[in-house]
Amino acid sequence: MAKGSYLVSLFKAFSKGDFEAFVRVANELIADEDKKGNHSLAQRLRNAISPFKIKSDNEYFTPASSSTYVPQDKDSNLALLGTLETQHLLNDVILNKSIKKTLENIKQEWLQKDKLISMNLFPTNKILLFGPPGCGKTMTAAALGNELGLKVLYVRFDSLISSYLGQTGQNIYSVFEFASKNRCLLILDEVDAIGKLRDDPADLGELKRTVIALMQNIDSFPPNSLLVAATNHPHLLDKALWRRFNICIEIPLPSLENRKLLFKKYLSKYKLVTNISFTTLAEITKGLSGADIETVCVRAAKRSIITSEPAETPLLEEIIFTLQNQPSTDTESLIKIASALRKSNTRKYTYQYLEALTGIPSSTLHYRLSKKRGDRN
Ligand SMILES: Nc1ncnc2c1ncn2[C@@H]1O[C@H](COP(=O)(O)OP(=O)(O)OP(=O)(O)O)[C@@H](O)[C@H]1O
Ligand SMILES: [Mg+2]
Repeated sequence: MAKGSYLVSLFKAFSKGDFEAFVRVANELIADEDKKGNHSLAQRLRNAISPFKIKSDNEYFTPASSSTYVPQDKDSNLALLGTLETQHLLNDVILNKSIKKTLENIKQEWLQKDKLISMNLFPTNKILLFGPPGCGKTMTAAALGNELGLKVLYVRFDSLISSYLGQTGQNIYSVFEFASKNRCLLILDEVDAIGKLRDDPADLGELKRTVIALMQNIDSFPPNSLLVAATNHPHLLDKALWRRFNICIEIPLPSLENRKLLFKKYLSKYKLVTNISFTTLAEITKGLSGADIETVCVRAAKRSIITSEPAETPLLEEIIFTLQNQPSTDTESLIKIASALRKSNTRKYTYQYLEALTGIPSSTLHYRLSKKRGDRN
C-alpha cells in the first residue's frame, strides 16, 4: 500500500475510535517500511506506538500503573465510582438463548484473548445494553465481570453530574482515566443521563460538551478494561454514541418461557411452595420484568410466613397488585388470576372482593367466571 493510503486508513480508524483498526494499520505500515529497508523509520514508528504495543505475551493486559485513589467530584467531594460485589454468574441471569450465546462469545474472547492479540485483534470491550427496567442489564454486566475475574466498578451519577460548568466533563475524564489504569469492568448505568441527543432545544451547550466528552473518553478507552453502558431509553441516545460501542445488545422483557424459569428460580430461592403451575404463572404475568417477578416472590414469601396462608393466595394477590401498576395491564391475565383465587377459596374471594382486587366490575367477573365454568361443563 502507498504511504498516503496508510495515512488515510490511520486517520479513518482514529476518527471512528477503532483502536483495533488503528493498531493493525500501524503495524502494517511498520512492516512495509521494514520491507523497504527503512529500518530506522520503522523503529521510530515502533517507538511512537509503544504505549499501545501489541504483544502476544499479554503485556497490554497488565496495567502500566494502577491507582487506588478513587476519583471524586471536586465540588461535593463525593466518590465518582462505587464497587459492585456479586456472586452471580452469567448462567444465573435468565435471558433468551441468542443473548446468552452473544455473551458467551464475548466471555470466550476475553478468556482466549492471547490468541486474538497474536492476530492484532482485541476482545469486545465496549458494550451497550438496552431495554426496559428490571430485566437484568446491571446483573448481566456484573456477572460478566465476575466470570472474567474483573473488579466491577460503577459510575455514580449523583456525583458525576456537577452543577459547575465544565466539571461534568472533567469528572467523566477522571472516571475513564481511573478505569484505564485499573483493569476493571466499568458499568455506566443510565448512560442516557449524559448521552442525550445533542439536538435537545433546551440545551445551552453544556449538554453538547458533556456528550462530546463522553464520546472522546469512550474512543480512548483501552482494550485491557471492559466498558458496559446501559440504558432504558435507547431512543434518547445520541446516534454518534451508538457507534462508539463494539456491540449493542437488547435485553427485552422476559418471554413466556423465561417467565417460567424466573418463577422457578425465585419461588425456590424464597422457599415458596405452590400448586399453581409455572406455565400458569408465566401466562398471567405478561409484561412483568425479572425484577417484578422476584419482588412478587419476596413479598408473597414474607406474607406467607407472617399469616401462614397457603402460598397461592399471597402470590396471586401480589401478581395482581404488580400487574395493576403496569402501564398496560392485560385484563385476561387478571381474569385468570381472579378465577384461580375464587377456585382456591369461594367464601373469601367474593365477586365484590375480586372487584376491589382487580378493578374489574363484579358483574363482568361473575359473567366471565361462570362462563368459564360453563365452558368446561
Ligand atoms: N433476567 C433476569 N434473570 C434473573 N434475575 C433477574 C433478571 N432480571 C432481573 N432480575 C432480578 O432483578 C434484579 C434487578 O435487575 P437489574 O438491576 O439487573 O435490571 P436492569 O435491567 O439493570 O434495570 P434498570 O434498567 O432499572 O437499571 C436483579 O438483581 C435480579 O435479582
Ligand atoms: Mg441497571
